[in-house]
Amino acid sequence: MVFKGNSYHFKGANTKMQRTEKKIAYELQEILNNYEIERDNLIPVLHGVQEKFGYISEESVAGISRHFNISESEIYGVATFYTQFRFTRPGDHTIRVCRGTACHVRGSQRIMNEVCKLTGIKPGETTSDYRFSLEQVACFGSCALAPIAVVNEAVYGRMTPPKIKQLLEEIE
Ligand code: FES
Repeated sequence: MVFKGNSYHFKGANTKMQRTEKKIAYELQEILNNYEIERDNLIPVLHGVQEKFGYISEESVAGISRHFNISESEIYGVATFYTQFRFTRPGDHTIRVCRGTACHVRGSQRIMNEVCKLTGIKPGETTSDYRFSLEQVACFGSCALAPIAVVNEAVYGRMTPPKIKQLLEEIE
């Protein structure tokens, strides 16, 4: 152990990572403990895991597999049937651009192009620093305000390339 300034730094083992893995395993177990070991509970558990961690990691699938005594491939088979489940870590901020008809005719492609240019990613991707994820959505049901972009949970209507640029710049 090395003392630096006001904090201790452990040499050798990646203690911080081990702690994080332990915490994730503990939080996963907390979710699993809420459900009886019944196959019907698989989807609710997957929802719970995604809500807690933002995605369903390989480690989570392994833990769910052990809990339900179902093979990992079977879990992936069930989960991939539902498009709402994601298996890769999302960025800290999710940008969604609507590509529905109303938004399309009012220039959503220009919004998407601007976001792609600013972040360097395409729809379905996450920046390598996990800052942003980009998604395209069919319709948010707010067509009167087209074109629509959603940043995290906030919906922005009548979006323009300069507006989305400013929005992304303002995100801490
Ligand atoms: S088409 Fe974009 S909100 Fe409906």
